Order: sequence, then C-alpha cells, then structure tokens
Amino acid sequence: MLKLAVCVSGGGTNLQAVIDRIGSGEISDVSISVVISNNRNAYALQRAEKHGIEHVCICPKDYESRDAFNDAFLAKLDSYDVNLVVLAGFLVVIPESVIQAYRGRIINIHPSLIPSFCGKGYYGLKVHEAVLARGVKVTGATVHFVDEGTDTGPIILQRAVEVQEGDTPEILQRRVMEQAEWVLLPEAIRLIAAGKVSVTDGHVKIRK
Ligand code: GRF
Repeated sequence: MLKLAVCVSGGGTNLQAVIDRIGSGEISDVSISVVISNNRNAYALQRAEKHGIEHVCICPKDYESRDAFNDAFLAKLDSYDVNLVVLAGFLVVIPESVIQAYRGRIINIHPSLIPSFCGKGYYGLKVHEAVLARGVKVTGATVHFVDEGTDTGPIILQRAVEVQEGDTPEILQRRVMEQAEWVLLPEAIRLIAAGKVSVTDGHVKIRK
C-alpha cells in the first residue's frame, strides 16, 4: 500500500481527482493518510472531511519563526509514516530538511509545460496570465519530482493543452486542469504505486 500525504492550499480539485480515482478503483494499493494545508480556510480541507480523510492545518504564522514551522512540518509529515508526499497546489516553500528526508518521494503538479512558465512567481493564475501574455498556442501541465529548486526536479509526466482564441486566464486554467492536471497527477501516483517509475541521471523512465 502506497501511503500518501497530500499538501494543499486552495480549492483542492487535484486532491479531488486523486480521491475520485482511488474511489473508482482506477488507482489501487494507494491510500491518502493525511491532507495537510497551510490555509485553514482551504476548501481542500472540506473535501478531505467529506471523504473521511484525516486532515490537518499547519500554518507558518502560528510559529515564531520559519525554522520552527519547518521543524513542525517535518515532524507532522513523519508522524504519518507516508511513502509519497504529493504537492497539489501547496503554496509553501518546502523546507530543505523535508526535501532531504523525502528525497525522490515528493511530487508536484505544475500548470505549465516545464521549463516554460515555471519557477519563482509562477503559480496559480499567474502562470496562465503569462501564457496568454506571451501568446503561445500550446500550454499544459507537468508532474515532476521535487528537489531543492523551484519546479526543477525530474519530469514524470506532461500533457499539452491548446490555447484558444478568447481564452481568459480563468478559462485556460480550467481547461488545463480538466484536460491535463486531473489526469496526470492520479496517473503519476498510479505509476509510482506500481513501481514503474525510476530516475537515472535526472531523467525519469516509466516502465510500461
Ligand atoms: C493547480 O492549478 C495546480 O496546478 C497548481 O495550483 C492549483 C491548485 O488547484 N499547483 P487545486 O487546489 O488543486 O484546485
């Protein structure tokens, strides 16, 4: 059984996609041990509640320093004894100590085709605003392993999505979510749970 910690900050639609694929049996041998958010108002926490999934809020502002938060975050993760940490719209910088403790066991969903429109400052709608401002015809989403950089870890899966005439950032975000994110994140978890994903020299190989 692959035990997940899913880290969220917002609406939780990617979390919901994972919950749904587990529920439908498309993903087997996977369970969500805990949903962790930095935002006590995150609707993602209500989604976890609705599905009887343990959920906790650990907010940086509740700690007197970032180091204290980082220590608490690592301790909280360790307490659930998970195999894979899934960042699903988690807007907190992952502490170095967590990267080291869970090296090769943290994945992230990013709403663009990395290495385009990623890195510091590229999150949420800002990504799609930049895509539209640049006038690219194709965007998409990427699932990647998390390392010390921002959106720089080995790429696991990507899927392209067409940019259409008249797209607003909100319309484009929704299309990227529906056509790419909500497909790729559960699929990456399924492949990892099946032991089909390996990394060699920073490149991911997926055994069919
Ligand atoms: C998604 O667009 C995801 O790609 C990005 O943050 C957003 C989270 O959305 N990392 P949700 O909370 O999963 O609905």
